[in-house]
This record gives sequence, structure tokens and C-alpha cells, in this order.
Amino acid sequence: MAPNVGPTPQLQPFPVFASSTPPSSVWDRISTWASENKAVVYTIAGVAIVVSGAGVAYYLTDSKVTTAGRDSKKSSSKKDRRKKKEEKKPDIEKSPTESTDTPKASATDPSDDELPQVDEHTVTRLSAQERKEYAARLKAAGNTAYGSQNYPLAIDLYGKAIICKPDPIFYSNRAACYNALADWNKVIEDTTAAIALDNEYVKALNRRANAYEKLEQYSEALLDFTASCIIDSFRNDASAQAVERLLKKVAEAKGKAILANKAKRLPSPTFVTNYLQSFRARPPPAGLEDSAQHSDDTGMGQLQLGWTSMGKKTATSYEEAAAAFDKALELGDLGDLEAWAYNMRGTFRYLRGENITALEDLMTSIQLQPSLTQSYIKRASMHLELANKEGASEDFEQAMAQNASDPDIYYHRAQLHFILGEFSEAARDYQTSIELDKDFIFSHIQLGVTQYKMGSIASSMATFRRCIKNFPGVPDVYNYYGELLLDQQKYQEAIEKFDMAVDMEKSNKPVGMNVLPLINKALALFQWKQDFAEAEKLCQKALIIDPECDIAVATMAQLLLQQGKVTEALTYFERAAELSRTEGEIVNALSYAEATRTQLEVQEKYPQLASRLQGMSGGLGQPPA
Ligand SMILES: *[C@@H]1O[C@H](CO)[C@@H](O)[C@H](O)[C@H]1NC(C)=O
Ligand SMILES: *[C@@H]1O[C@H](CO)[C@@H](O)[C@H](O)[C@H]1NC(C)=O
Repeated sequence: MAPNVGPTPQLQPFPVFASSTPPSSVWDRISTWASENKAVVYTIAGVAIVVSGAGVAYYLTDSKVTTAGRDSKKSSSKKDRRKKKEEKKPDIEKSPTESTDTPKASATDPSDDELPQVDEHTVTRLSAQERKEYAARLKAAGNTAYGSQNYPLAIDLYGKAIICKPDPIFYSNRAACYNALADWNKVIEDTTAAIALDNEYVKALNRRANAYEKLEQYSEALLDFTASCIIDSFRNDASAQAVERLLKKVAEAKGKAILANKAKRLPSPTFVTNYLQSFRARPPPAGLEDSAQHSDDTGMGQLQLGWTSMGKKTATSYEEAAAAFDKALELGDLGDLEAWAYNMRGTFRYLRGENITALEDLMTSIQLQPSLTQSYIKRASMHLELANKEGASEDFEQAMAQNASDPDIYYHRAQLHFILGEFSEAARDYQTSIELDKDFIFSHIQLGVTQYKMGSIASSMATFRRCIKNFPGVPDVYNYYGELLLDQQKYQEAIEKFDMAVDMEKSNKPVGMNVLPLINKALALFQWKQDFAEAEKLCQKALIIDPECDIAVATMAQLLLQQGKVTEALTYFERAAELSRTEGEIVNALSYAEATRTQLEVQEKYPQLASRLQGMSGGLGQPPA
């Protein structure tokens, strides 16, 4: 696996919806998605992630998060205002009889015959003053009836109050009665009327959202809860949690639909190459040398085709390799290479996100040839992606029992430690891997990154300088060195390193070049100079070279969102969902897409909230005109 310099990743691949997260942070997390989630997913899969993602997160922390109303204690004057508003609009659910505008008498003496009798006809004969008085008395009686859980009576009384005076509170209170009776359609009707009269009526919005949720109209519920959160500056934890919950529900439903129709495809060549090169390069297995001639219609011929195609490192050649390994096992007669064939088919299945059959193939491979240590290592990354940390640890144990001097095992176990934030254990394993084989560049790079994470900046920089000396011309060294420099805000130097990496990539392999240095440079320019135009251009360039590169797509989404270009950002979030490998990743990407879409809808429906939203959505840029 290649280095990961992002924020300290956690094992749970998708921490987005952890309930412990601060409620206001849904927007923050949209903005830092590329860094936080990709970091974990990519480390598991063995691919590099840009440190710069984390840099964006820091940048946001400085200039933006504080605007999201996370610190509610600060805004005490706002709170007072809100309190007044609440007194004006008693929540029937909470204190129907204690509210200030409920006459005390009615609480004890709600005698029916003393109450004014009104209907649509008689009300026309009343003066404005009479209507107001009647409405107040009817509402008070309604509150009392509600308090004694006589909902039909309360509904009737609120209905009469509404005839006297259409008031959002009366509608909302009647909605509370329907709520108690679980008549969700009526709840929606009345809260809609209340909101029409006062479109910042948070209680009515929440009540309607709840009814929508009960009716499984999740998108509508999400929209209402989102609006309510924004009006309320995210001070109501329950609504903020509801937003998270509904985002997940909506995304899960859409994700299932996408998954059902989605042809399983390989991820971008950037991803595949990084995964494959996280194992030491080896000569072709005995029997597959160029000199060995096998016909294409034999299993061995297909294995040979798979091997050579894999070496070409392009999207097409990887697809060819995957097909060849499939066919090889169909044709059979593979002799000693059967276990290797299962290993390779499982590898490509894993890359395609077919977690179950991939695991089966690796199990078969291990059964056939327990000494093939690479199979245990690959099974470990599969276990890890299924959040089975213990399974992964056991795989490494078993691999070591086969061959305790295989450097690949230590390198990959180090990656596991790294993901878990166990940096000293990780460093020890990288060291062992280097002692066993000092020629594998990624052990050195990742050791440098780990030292950096442990706070040993000087040793880390020394490790990288040594790498440059010992591995001249390897672009990855410059790329990751640049990431560390960027993390230290040494922008000029970082960009120099990224440029060198780009040049080397270009001359090494013009086709299928690694686009990560381009994306890193984009993020560096964004952080350093807020040069969005140039940053976008670099991402676009990366996407021309590798159109399926999900890091590039995620970075574009992030850059656009930073500029308040929400509509454009949405298309990239949706694209990211399409490019995702696993159900978890799809749901994750979709939840960001849904959050972004909902934000757009709120802006449309509540234009007066647009400016407040802009302040929360990572909007360093100008609000849209
Ligand atoms: C163990 O792995 C190393 C490195 O791959 C290899 O050189 C050695 O031959 C292996 N030993 C056995 C017993 O397979
Ligand atoms: C594993 O694959 C199954 C079937 O395709 C899928 O439902 C499940 O979500 C996958 N698990 C992960 C963690 O991707």
C-alpha cells in the first residue's frame, strides 16, 4: 500500500454519521469529504491519499467552522430573541396549559356551554375584536382538551379558533393533536397551513418533517428538517440528528437502486495500480515467462495474457487482465498455478467491489497453496474493508507462520497499524520490512510519513532526503515529500516537488500516469493563494488523464463547494457515487450529494435563508448572485 498522510484515519470506514459528531458539522463534513473518507478507504485499499485534503480541513477550521453556529453559548442575544418567539408560540406538546397567553381560568373551567359557538357563517357577524377574543378562548380550551388527551375535542376547538382567526399556532396545535392520533396526512395538512402563515415556524417544520418521515417520504422530511436546522442555526440537536439520519436513509435507498443496476467495474487505473504496486514487484510465476508459449484457448494462455495485460497499467488493459483471469479458471488445467490464478481473480473481484466472491477466491487460493503468503495479505485487506480488524490481524499471523521473512507482510501489517493510529507499531513494521528488503520504495516513504505523524519532523524529513538520494527519479518520493511540505505550509517547496513528480510521471509512463501529484498541486495552490481557477484546471487535467479518478472528482466537488458553486458541486458528488467501489462508499458519496441537493432546494424554497446557508456550507466564496 502506498502512503497516507491524511488526517488520522479511523477503522470504521464511514464515520460520517457517527451520532457523536457535533450536529452542525454536516456541512463541514461535506467540505472535508475528500480528505476524511477517502483517506480511510484508500489506505484500506492500498492507495495513496493526499495530505492536502487535511490542509483544506485546517483551512476551514480557521475561517469557517465558527460561522456554522456550533458555539451556541456565544449568541446569547439571539437566544433571548428566540425565547421570546417561543413564548409567543407555545408548543402544545410541551406545556399547553402553562403558556403565558393561556388564561388560567380555562385550565380549570373549560365548560363547553360558556364557549362561543362559531362556524363559517356566524363568524362573519362578529367584529374583529370579538373574533380575536373568541379565538383566544377557543384555543385555550383546545389546549386544555389537549392536556387531558381529549384530542377529538381539541381538534374541534382549534378548528373553531381557526375560523375566528387563522393563526399558525392554532394550526400547529391542531397538528399536534393529529400527531397524537398518528394521522400523518392531517399533520402535514395543518403544519403546511401553519408554515404558509409563518415560514420560519420551526416547530411546525419539525412536526411536518416527522410526519413525512412516518410516511416514508424521506426527501420531504429531509428538506423540512434541513430548513428547520438552518432557521434555528443548528441549535436543536434532535433536528440536526434527524438530518443525518434522513440523509443516510435517502442515500441508502438511492444507493441500493444504483447498486442493483450497476455493472461491476474496475475502479480507476490510478487506484488499481496503487493497489497492485503495494506488493513487491516479482518476476512472472514459473511457466508464464515470455519464452513460454501457450495458446490463448488454454488456461495457461489466459494466465499469461492476464499477466502481460496487468503490466500495461491502463484502464483497458486492467479490464483485459480481469477477463483473462476469469477465463483461465474456466478453462482450467493450470497445474501449479491454480492457487495463483484464484489469487488474481480474487484480487480483481475485490477491486471491483465484489467482496464476497473475492474472499471466497482467496480462501480457495490459500487452501490450494498455503505457502503463498500474498494471499493472506490480500485477504487481510478484504477483511479490513469489511471492518473485520481481528480477521485482518489473524491473516497476518498466518502469513508469518508460513514465511516470517516476507517483507510484504510487515509492510501491510504496518498499514493496518497506521490506519488504527498505532504509529510506533507501524514504524517498527516498516523498519522490519526495510531490513528484509531495502529496495521497496513505499516502505521508506510510509516510514517517513509515520515519523511525521509521530511528531518526529526532523527524522521524517531526513528519511525523505535519503529516499531522494537512494531512489532518484521515482515520482512517488517527490509527491509524498511534497505532501509533508504542504502540511507544514511550505507552499513554494511543496509545489516544486509536485512539479518534479508530474514531470517524472510524464516521462516514465505517459499513458496511465499517476495523477495524484497534479491533484496535490491543485490543493496547494488553493490553500496558498486561494487560486480556485488554477486548482480547478489542474483537477480537470487529472480527469482528462484518468477520467475515473475518484480523488480528482472528490477534490473538484470540494473546490466548487468552497466557492459556493453548489449546483456544479452536486454533479461531482453524483459522479463520485457512480465511481464508488463498495456499497458503503456509494451511500457515503450519495449522502453528500443529497445534502448538497437539499441545500439547493432550501435556497429555492426559502430564499431568505440563502445567505445564512451560505455561511454554513463552507462558503468561503461569494454567495451566488
Ligand atoms: C520467504 O519470503 C522471502 C521473500 O519473499 C523469500 O525470499 C523466501 O524464499 C521465502 N521463504 C520461503 C521458505 O518460502
Ligand atoms: C459486500 O457485498 C454485498 C453484496 O454485494 C453488499 O451487500 C455489502 O454491502 C458489501 N459489503 C461491503 C462492506 O461493501
